[in-house]
Amino acid sequence: MSSCVAILPLLVALLSTLLTATTAVRSSTLQLARPRPVTPNAGAPLTAWAASLASQSAADAARVVMLAAGPPANAKPKNKGRSFVPIAPGRQIISIPNYVARARLGTPAQTLLVAIDPSNDAAWVPCSDCAGCASAPSFSPTQSSTYRPVRCGSPQCAQVPSPSCLASLGACCAFNLTYAASTFQAVLGQDSLALENDVVVSYTFGCLRVVTGNSLPPQGLIGFGRGPLSFLSQTKDTYGSVFSYCLPNYRSSNFSGTLKLGPVGQPKRIKTTPLLYNPRRPSLYYVNMIGIRVGSKAVPVQQSDLQFDPVTGSGTIIDAGTMFTRLAAPVYAAVRDEFRRRVRTPVAAPLGGFDTCYNVTISVPTITFMFAGPVSVTLPEENVMIHSSSGGIACLAMAAGPSDGVNAALNVLASMQQQNHRVLFDVANGRVGFSRELCTL
Ligand SMILES: *[C@@H]1O[C@H](CO)[C@@H](O)[C@H](O)[C@H]1NC(C)=O
Ligand SMILES: *[C@@H]1O[C@H](CO)[C@@H](O)[C@H](O)[C@H]1NC(C)=O
Ligand SMILES: *[C@@H]1O[C@H](CO)[C@@H](O)[C@H](O)[C@H]1NC(C)=O
Repeated sequence: MSSCVAILPLLVALLSTLLTATTAVRSSTLQLARPRPVTPNAGAPLTAWAASLASQSAADAARVVMLAAGPPANAKPKNKGRSFVPIAPGRQIISIPNYVARARLGTPAQTLLVAIDPSNDAAWVPCSDCAGCASAPSFSPTQSSTYRPVRCGSPQCAQVPSPSCLASLGACCAFNLTYAASTFQAVLGQDSLALENDVVVSYTFGCLRVVTGNSLPPQGLIGFGRGPLSFLSQTKDTYGSVFSYCLPNYRSSNFSGTLKLGPVGQPKRIKTTPLLYNPRRPSLYYVNMIGIRVGSKAVPVQQSDLQFDPVTGSGTIIDAGTMFTRLAAPVYAAVRDEFRRRVRTPVAAPLGGFDTCYNVTISVPTITFMFAGPVSVTLPEENVMIHSSSGGIACLAMAAGPSDGVNAALNVLASMQQQNHRVLFDVANGRVGFSRELCTL
């Protein structure tokens, strides 16, 4: 142990999260959209906007493939069962597609902007001395009096994917992961983690040691997936496996959104649909989407294109690291066709991966996702169209998912379609809730 601690400083040893074997495996194939800004700048040439949209869209597609491809506490809060954490779109602040929160790690606290990823179980932060990490703020384990490396053979070490034991570090537990276009090696460690006011005393996370590629959120990530090592699982005794978020508009830079942890303070009246567990992708939040309306009309779709299937992993998930909703190709086609029919204005040229764009002002029909319950979530224009701030172009902000095999049947309800709504993940009671809430100032 002492050698593990003593050498730690040489390497980076803080690490962070913990991952479950399943989580880790899934994480290893989970794609995070590439961190490129999509927000059109005022006055920016339309081509640049189109390029950034295309880039985001391609990144979303890659993430969807990766989401689909996966094989399948000790907290001491001030107000037990309740915490409100401000969140903001990372794209405005550090050019990543995820929403971010401020985390304080260690003693004294070191502040990092971490990506909040509900489709991931892992947590990790860049540590000082990391080879290949972005030159963003990083965590220095040696500067924290409460950091502890996790040793080989400990229960936490057994939960990471393919753990290895770094003899050179005195038997510290390490693991390798692939995330989007990056791979990394991290050592497992524990330290106090604070999101807003609550402190999780011994949070287990990965301390990045070696990184290749540039797809990792520069200041770290906290997974809010369902696996045993996610934030939710590690804080189960405090927050009871319940959280919700309200994602502010993707253009906002204020931390005006909130991540609410725990059952206290959640909306009392919220429409809910059962949360489904898909053993093929155990970290993801599946729901049963049973139909989609454009305006008042239910579009014709085969139930098989929406079907939840624990064997193939098909179905519908809620994700906040993908920006634009991806629907199974036949479902998207049905939505798009009805949308165009109602708009009754010729579409302009496709732009940035979107095929339903307009260069004149149109009257935008609502789009309604219908879930088992039944529960309907009707999206206003803000959640339906993406607007160029430079030119008068607006596009239907959804696209068809990958056209191949099993991935083809995964519908991903993404952040653009969730912004300014509260989305409740009540794992304890097996439900997901939606309500309109303006959280963009
Ligand atoms: C893990 O990553 C490290 C650093 O890049 C590398 O040296 C090692 O071979 C990797 N281990 C495995 C099992 O891939
Ligand atoms: C951010 O919030 C502050 C106060 O909460 C407000 O004054 C400011 O206008 C906001 N800025 C934006 C861009 O919303
Ligand atoms: C708008 O789109 C229409 C339909 O594609 C096209 O004919 C027209 O030239 C476009 N106008 C501008 C200003 O781009």
